[in-house]
Amino acid sequence: MTASTIVIVIVGAGQAGALAAAELRRQGYAGRLVLIGEEAHAPYERPPLSKDVLLQPQTARCAIHAEGFYAEHAIELKLGVAATALDAQARTVMLSSGETIAFDKLLLATGARVRRLPMLDALGGLGESVHTLRTLDDAQRLLPVLQPGKRVLLVGAGVIGLELASSAVDLGAQVTVIEQAPRAMMRCAPPVLSAHLCVVHRARGVALHLGSPLAAAARERGEIVLTLEDGTRLTGNAVIYGIGVEPETTLAQAAGLHVENGIVIDAQCRTSHAHVYAAGDAATQWDEASGRHQRRETWENANQQAQTAARAILGLAPEAREADWFWTDQCGLNIQFAGDMAAPEWLARGTLDTPPCVLFGLDGEGALVGAITVNQGRDMRSAKALIGKRARIARETLADPAQNLRNLAREFA
Ligand code: FAD
Ligand code: APR
Repeated sequence: MTASTIVIVIVGAGQAGALAAAELRRQGYAGRLVLIGEEAHAPYERPPLSKDVLLQPQTARCAIHAEGFYAEHAIELKLGVAATALDAQARTVMLSSGETIAFDKLLLATGARVRRLPMLDALGGLGESVHTLRTLDDAQRLLPVLQPGKRVLLVGAGVIGLELASSAVDLGAQVTVIEQAPRAMMRCAPPVLSAHLCVVHRARGVALHLGSPLAAAARERGEIVLTLEDGTRLTGNAVIYGIGVEPETTLAQAAGLHVENGIVIDAQCRTSHAHVYAAGDAATQWDEASGRHQRRETWENANQQAQTAARAILGLAPEAREADWFWTDQCGLNIQFAGDMAAPEWLARGTLDTPPCVLFGLDGEGALVGAITVNQGRDMRSAKALIGKRARIARETLADPAQNLRNLAREFA
């Protein structure tokens, strides 16, 4: 069997699925290639959904590939069709259309779904005055909600909650954010940045309630009323909640693959079944550095794992991985993160109040393990290289804006 005679099926036409299909063709795979997506839209990027799609709905672009790309590359794109069952032994997938496709290699790129809060869902139909944000359709349903004068209740001060708070204020809405944890973006930002973001959002008029679990949700005289455990009552016209995501592993689990908070994959994106691979938000990958499995929920990880999976399917070794990287845009700040956000010590170059600013994360022995650039993306490449080397640099040097980071990275290369 040569690579040109096998059949490769990709389930999930999102970031990882669309990138993997492109990579397979880029590497010269010429056989049948099927990309299955349950959404009606051609593959699109999600990061703009909380940003440009809301702020500039007429001009925002989020398609991953140009319109003709799939036909030009002979990628059979099946949209509006879900894979409903996988038989890993027989190597077949069944689709909601009734079709069954036999494959030689399968990539699961099924992403994640939003965690639901029954208390809020019980308020009424999701998508009317209760919203979540994961898909383009979700974002489009938010457009009439984020208007001047509307009072929006946001539950969760994670990435989604804060990006939405920023966009909603820009669009003229009145915003309240409720977060049960003691600080914002606790999953992926160190305390110093969490605290700063709260200051910035509050200065823009956002009412931010931290450490306040939600106790009750009700509708009263056409309004939504959320009551916190301390008795605080908050009212609004609509509620949007972003309380995290769960990996979409239904197919993998039913097929008997190893799943543990994500489809378990090795460094080459291979699952517990020889002919099945997984990539993106749905997967949890062995990480040599930390000695444990890690599920990453970032655009870059989806791209990297897609590339690795495509290469592995074709028998090619993975390319070297750099430090983990992601970004958020909010309140006019472009914030990029690399490496370990749980570093015990953070040191600033510049001040967060007057960006540009870079934060460096040091481990217990003073090695550089993380970095955050705030309106200073140009330093990110050097920071990643230094993190890759676990560079030990004098604190005064790191904190000194006159010390060019690119030169420092060269010294450690
Ligand atoms: P997805 O892009 O979710 O794609 C999975 C696809 O699979 C979906 O279309 C789904 O419908 C489909 N699918 C699932 N099950 C089936 C099935 N059985 N059959 C057929 N199709 C199926 N990351 C950053 O780094 N920076 C950001 O600023 C950022 N902003 C974001 C903003 C928003 C609003 C969101 C939602 C995410 C953001 N992310 C950001 C995260 C990033 O978009 C995700 O990590 C990335 O999309 C993951 O790619 P994926 O392919 O694994 O999953
Ligand atoms: N009430 C209030 N806050 C809650 C509740 C609750 N019942 N449950 C969870 N939260 C908070 C968490 O404490 C956390 O701060 O919701 C926040 C969720 O933050 P994230 O984990 O960052 O998830 P979210 O913001 O929903 O983003 C989901 O989208 O942009 C991507 O990469 C991002 O994958 C992530 C996804």
